[in-house]
Amino acid sequence: DGDPDSERPSTKQRRRSPTPPQAYALTYPAAGAAPAFQQPTQIISFSYTPARELEFTDSALRFLASPPPRAQLTHGYDSWVRRPETRPRIDGLLRALSAARAKRHPALANGVGAVGWRGVLTRILTAPYEERDGWDMNVMRVNDVLYFEEHLTEEKLREKDDIPPRQRLQTYMGYAFESYCTSATPSSSNPPGVNVPQGPGDPPGWSGDVDTNVQWCSVVRTKLGETRLVIGGEVDCVRGKYTSKTDTFVELKTSMVIRNPQDEMRFEKKLLKFYMQSFLLGVPEILVGFRTPGGEVTTTQTFRTVEIPRLVRGKAHGWDPGRCLAWGEAFLEFLKKHVRVRRELGDRGEGTGEERHENGVGGKGEDETTHPDAVVWRVTF
Ligand code: A3P
Ligand code: MG
Ligand code: MG
Repeated sequence: DGDPDSERPSTKQRRRSPTPPQAYALTYPAAGAAPAFQQPTQIISFSYTPARELEFTDSALRFLASPPPRAQLTHGYDSWVRRPETRPRIDGLLRALSAARAKRHPALANGVGAVGWRGVLTRILTAPYEERDGWDMNVMRVNDVLYFEEHLTEEKLREKDDIPPRQRLQTYMGYAFESYCTSATPSSSNPPGVNVPQGPGDPPGWSGDVDTNVQWCSVVRTKLGETRLVIGGEVDCVRGKYTSKTDTFVELKTSMVIRNPQDEMRFEKKLLKFYMQSFLLGVPEILVGFRTPGGEVTTTQTFRTVEIPRLVRGKAHGWDPGRCLAWGEAFLEFLKKHVRVRRELGDRGEGTGEERHENGVGGKGEDETTHPDAVVWRVTF
């Protein structure tokens, strides 16, 4: 109607308008020099209570204990208090970041470039080697800070809520291992002793029934290339005493016993996720319980996180963390450059081909963030 601004709708309208699809194709670096990754520094910790309330205490912190011989991981399955499956959001992490900012934590003095749970950052960094599972994430930009959230489609959410009983039992076994390997109080012996069971029907070493609402989380500050990162994640337990640093953190994992070279290969591929998940939070130690299909732990093995890459180096199924970091840096730089204006989600872009892997990068239509000034993109891997 002649108004020069009429072609520029309000922010709200612009969010909903179907602007043309835009897609970018990104490629994974083949190899090359890895960018620097700064040793993570904890800036704050917090706990989720059994009522799933976030509190700035260490009430959910657990201490490493020795699992008893032949721990049975199906124990307590019927008593499992399951956290309901919901879309993973970054609200809790943002509350923690605000609290650390309010305390003027020195590690935040130079600002922050990107914020996310370690799960989504692990997904990003391991993408060059992911052969099977596609996934989506939301990138929100508010001022100069990028916020990452994994995005579960309705279909994925339904799948998660409706997993077959056998798979549910397998998931439970990972948590049962945590019950055997941790206690609420530090161990007086060194190395840690076996727990005294709490209930009359409980086996040796069982420290209490599983409640997946309860989590202890650490939030760290680190830097990949030129991007300052704030990463939050659950830490399974600490060895000995809690120092408010990451140096005593322990990650617990279960895995099927290795019976043949093919099992070994599978395990060594899986080590990339164990490694990256721990590396990003500065967790120096990973305790793996190897279990039978029936859930009996036959052996345990401790891995020093920094030593894991050497175990797979040069193998046909091996992986190179430097390549992951180089890709992560390139991806962050891409987002810093392009996530400025709203674009609609486009077709899935073309990947490198070599990995049979695709990245479609683009904005999305609906507004999911609560921040009115956020620029939101959906990125599809
Ligand atoms: P295991 O990995 O030992 O089997 P985490 O290891 O990250 O601390 O997670 C604890 C447990 O939660 C896992 O134990 C597994 O049982 C379950 N879990 C974590 N992520 C999962 C996922 N993406 N799908 C299914 N189960 C998962
Ligand atoms: Mg955990
Ligand atoms: Mg674990």
